[in-house]
Amino acid sequence: MLACSLTAMASDDAKMDKFIDDLMSKMTLEEKLGQINLPPGGDIVTGDPQSSDIGAAIVKGQIGGIFNIKGADKAKALQELAVKKSRLGIPLLIGMDVIHGYETVFPIPLALAASWDTSAAETTARIAAIEASAAGINWTFSPMVDIARDPRWGRMSEGSGEDPFLGSRMAEAMVRGYQGKSMQGDTEIMACLKHFALYGAPDAGRDYSTVDMSRLRMFNEYLAPYRAAVNAGVGSVMSSFNVVDGIPATANKWLLTDLLRDYWGFKGFVVTDYGSIGEMQPHGMGDMQSNAAMALKSGTDMDMSSWAFVNTLAKSLQEGKVSMSDIDRAVRLILEAKYKLGLFKNPYKYNNVKREKTDIYTPEHKAEARRVAAKTFVLLKNEGNILPLQKKGKIALVGPLANTAINMVGSWAGAIAPEKYKSLLHGFQDAVGDKANIIYAKGCNVYADAKTEGNVGIWNKNIRDNRTEQELFDEAMKAAANADVIVAAMGELAESSGESSSRSELDLPETQKKLLAALVATGKPVVMLNFSGRSTVMTWENENVPAILNVWFGGSEAPDAIADVVFGDVNPSGKLPVSMPRNVGQVPVYYNHLNTGRPVDNPKGDFIKFKSNYFDVPNAPLYPFGYGLSYTSFSFSDFNLSSDKLSNDGTIRASVKVTNTGDREGAEVVQYYIRDMVGSISRPVKELKHFERVSLAPGESKTVSFDINVDDLKYYHPVDQFKSKSSALSSGSDIEYTAEPGEFQIMVGPDSENVQTLKFTLE
Ligand code: NOJ
Repeated sequence: MLACSLTAMASDDAKMDKFIDDLMSKMTLEEKLGQINLPPGGDIVTGDPQSSDIGAAIVKGQIGGIFNIKGADKAKALQELAVKKSRLGIPLLIGMDVIHGYETVFPIPLALAASWDTSAAETTARIAAIEASAAGINWTFSPMVDIARDPRWGRMSEGSGEDPFLGSRMAEAMVRGYQGKSMQGDTEIMACLKHFALYGAPDAGRDYSTVDMSRLRMFNEYLAPYRAAVNAGVGSVMSSFNVVDGIPATANKWLLTDLLRDYWGFKGFVVTDYGSIGEMQPHGMGDMQSNAAMALKSGTDMDMSSWAFVNTLAKSLQEGKVSMSDIDRAVRLILEAKYKLGLFKNPYKYNNVKREKTDIYTPEHKAEARRVAAKTFVLLKNEGNILPLQKKGKIALVGPLANTAINMVGSWAGAIAPEKYKSLLHGFQDAVGDKANIIYAKGCNVYADAKTEGNVGIWNKNIRDNRTEQELFDEAMKAAANADVIVAAMGELAESSGESSSRSELDLPETQKKLLAALVATGKPVVMLNFSGRSTVMTWENENVPAILNVWFGGSEAPDAIADVVFGDVNPSGKLPVSMPRNVGQVPVYYNHLNTGRPVDNPKGDFIKFKSNYFDVPNAPLYPFGYGLSYTSFSFSDFNLSSDKLSNDGTIRASVKVTNTGDREGAEVVQYYIRDMVGSISRPVKELKHFERVSLAPGESKTVSFDINVDDLKYYHPVDQFKSKSSALSSGSDIEYTAEPGEFQIMVGPDSENVQTLKFTLE
């Protein structure tokens, strides 16, 4: 069976190779360079493709793909220009940042990771692909898998958080969702893994800033999700804006060729990020011509938005700075992608314009978005079981995020249809009907000063309330005085996170803090909903507000989903995919850190002189990675190991019984962590190795097991420093991936802090 399918694959490859050989033999150099050129939509975003400059370039064969245009008709017109009017009729790649849904918008990726539900990641990517492909899109610039430990960095919102294992599982699920089985179906589109690599670790959390990290940290902590997506068959990879080992990723041969293709076996193509060949100059490289040559030779196949390949590579070829085989490699990979998508068989495969009317923002897609969003909310605190609220009496809904539909979806939602979405206020009103009275007041703007609000983003032009801060505040206090319970919708604007949205402070803006403190001071029960695209600081809130639900940005159906959880129709089950710091000074704070030579036994305890701790704040985050409460309670018991010895080719089973000890149905995420007690290099205090979501009825128990084998214990380390001979410059670069015999701890619990521990030995 396997032999048969391998033979079939080989003959498919041979067919593809022959087709592309024939096509390439007919192509002029200009046409080849056109194929590796990817401009943005430009004048066709709003204008008519036929009469646009981009349209004219397509006809001349100067463009291989286009991106970020919306509309099935437009996509079709562009494809027709390429197929019918250009000399060789090569179809276009039509790309878009479909990051967390198309018109049906799902939670931002960070929130999705909080569901710890890989099937939700796959399903939402599948639906995004169904909708995007109905509008002519055949390529999405997703998944973004950059590990992020610094919430000052706004793009934390676009990835799966701080953990390589969780990030890897989400990444591969999303690739499967977008690409389906083979990219052959007419709803199966090509995914693009980004941003390769390490983009999530910029100095000081400032977007586009310097990244500098050891190879060991890369391999053990940051690269895993990229590799998982490659193993899942992702069709394309986008390089990142940052430098890696001092060389911009865009032109980094070690990264794009040695690691990605030669070591990991990636077979697809590499596209630059937006204009990043152009950005090599401010990075301190040469001029556009030499940068384009360097990018191509290092393994870049497609130039996004710099027009550097089309404008300079012919000259570089003439001058011997690049070879024809460098150009042919890139062209072939782009043509292969088009072939694999089935575009040569049917260039209009994604241009069924009727589907745009029937397959986008359907009731089924909306229902799924609502269901998934509710799974992503993390209940951080629920003193006195204030939540869920009953649908009765007077409920004050107060805060700057309470009545703004556009801010529910989160950043990077380029295809949104805001007129179709509702605000939280509307969601609450629909949920309670005439059973309760919702009294709304804005209370304050998100930021007191219009300038900061303006810096945050373009979507918010119309949301500012121009009444004075005092007027807004007074109105809110009146609403609160009239109510039995207060729900405070606080936090960030959707665009406070995402690209170019770095922050230096992570707590609520002053104006919101003041409002929240006054609401709490009324003595009425207060529930805080925290809208955020990153982990934020809620130290005061944790001490003073009885109930806190972190709702991230839940997508187009967030208002209904939040109402589902607040009013108890759905029991919250989200778990943090990032540690939540106590203050900015703790950043980066992450659970899988090394122990240091001077650890403190109690990371929440008092300061101890000459230990690795702060004298003004504990080491532990406010809320740890993996944390999240439920309206019910769970117990973990009977934790056991089938053996305390593991052989190199064997397996041992860890098991734990999880019981729903409360009185309503709920889901728990069982998390297994491992610690390698002695290694040839220092090892993290724990690393997530397995997780499972289990749904349990009241009183019900389930046993959740994890079969551990040697692969779960492997990690990257230098070959023995005493055995390998290394020069001063290459020391530590000879890395191997093995497990080392010795003692390990296996831990299990509902979060990364609250764990039970057993030991075993790898023999
Ligand atoms: C820049 C962003 O970094 C990247 O994530 C995105 O895909 C491209 N622009 C294209 O819009």
